[in-house]
Amino acid sequence: MNNESKNSYAFSFFTALWITVLSTIILLIIEGIFFQINWFSLLIFSGIVFLISFLFIQIRTEKFIHKKITNLYKNVSLLADLPLLQEPVTTDMEALTKSVEKFAENKKLEIQALKVRENYRKEFIGNVSHELKTPLFTVEGYILTLLDGALEDKERTQKYLERAYKGVERLVYIVNDLEMITKLESGEAYLKKEEFDIIKVIKTVFEMLEIKAKELDISLTLDKDYKKPIMVNADQERIQQVITNLVMNSIKYGKQKGTTEISIENLTTDKIIVRITDNGEGFKKEEIPRLFERFYRGDKSGSRKTGGSGLGLSIVKHILEAHQEKIYVESHYGIGSEFSFTLKKS
Ligand SMILES: Nc1ncnc2c1ncn2[C@@H]1O[C@H](COP(=O)(O)OP(=O)(O)O)[C@@H](O)[C@H]1O
Ligand SMILES: [Mg+2]
Repeated sequence: MNNESKNSYAFSFFTALWITVLSTIILLIIEGIFFQINWFSLLIFSGIVFLISFLFIQIRTEKFIHKKITNLYKNVSLLADLPLLQEPVTTDMEALTKSVEKFAENKKLEIQALKVRENYRKEFIGNVSHELKTPLFTVEGYILTLLDGALEDKERTQKYLERAYKGVERLVYIVNDLEMITKLESGEAYLKKEEFDIIKVIKTVFEMLEIKAKELDISLTLDKDYKKPIMVNADQERIQQVITNLVMNSIKYGKQKGTTEISIENLTTDKIIVRITDNGEGFKKEEIPRLFERFYRGDKSGSRKTGGSGLGLSIVKHILEAHQEKIYVESHYGIGSEFSFTLKKS
């Protein structure tokens, strides 16, 4: 600041000096030609000219700069969404520099965010087509084989149609998951909060997934016999989906003859915590941050073998975030995993 003011005085000083020197020379010439040179009046004249021009230039430039800066500041404030000139423009230079810096910083962040989003979009589209390709080619392959003559063989027809159907089924649930996740991400999916019994929902999910669990001989249980209903306030359908996805995972990545157990505990006076524990293959600690990423699928044999879009857990996370609830994960590789989430009591 000190340096700046010195500089601005220097400007007026030297400009005034130039004017003084020039006008004194002119006066000297005029006096020399027409009159006698009066050195004393010349001295007084140059003194006055210097003083006046110095003051004049100093004040005028300050005013000029002030005006320009105020305009600039206003524009920057508008662009940067800063409160418009809340304080009078006294320390304008400083204030302006700060706002411009802040503005630039914000813009930089914005551009970075946009770049991340753009990359994400590209990745997302790439992932989607990659995920859709496998089942589509499967279906295409079976249909082509049937068209090429396999239709005559009744047994083969049945088998190929079943496989083609499996492919279509997978396509359907990838598309459903995609639709769900886009809705959740664009904030289009509104929550229909209501009071409901979480125990009942868990039992419904168990019933729905019973057949799937039987295939692997996995038992689905509650940790104890909950006699009284536990009422919560949330979007029932969505929470049912959360539990379905988590239980489904515990089956998919579970061991033969394993168990999936759900327990409910009081966390605080107004929250409960729902825990889903399995003794399946589990995952490594390093994997935890990636689990909730879209399309992330563990590269263990289990994840590759079983169908899945890799969207299940990101949907779970989105739904719970929309509820402003939290999800926790714990796992020991080869021993089992535990997913738990909070819900508001009603
Ligand atoms: N209960 C679990 N036990 C072991 N691994 C799990 C479990 N739940 C999820 N995972 C891992 O997290 C990955 C992502 O899960 P998810 O988003 O539901 O996708 P998907 O089930 O379609 O593969 C899975 O591929 C799997 O590797
Ligand atoms: Mg899943």
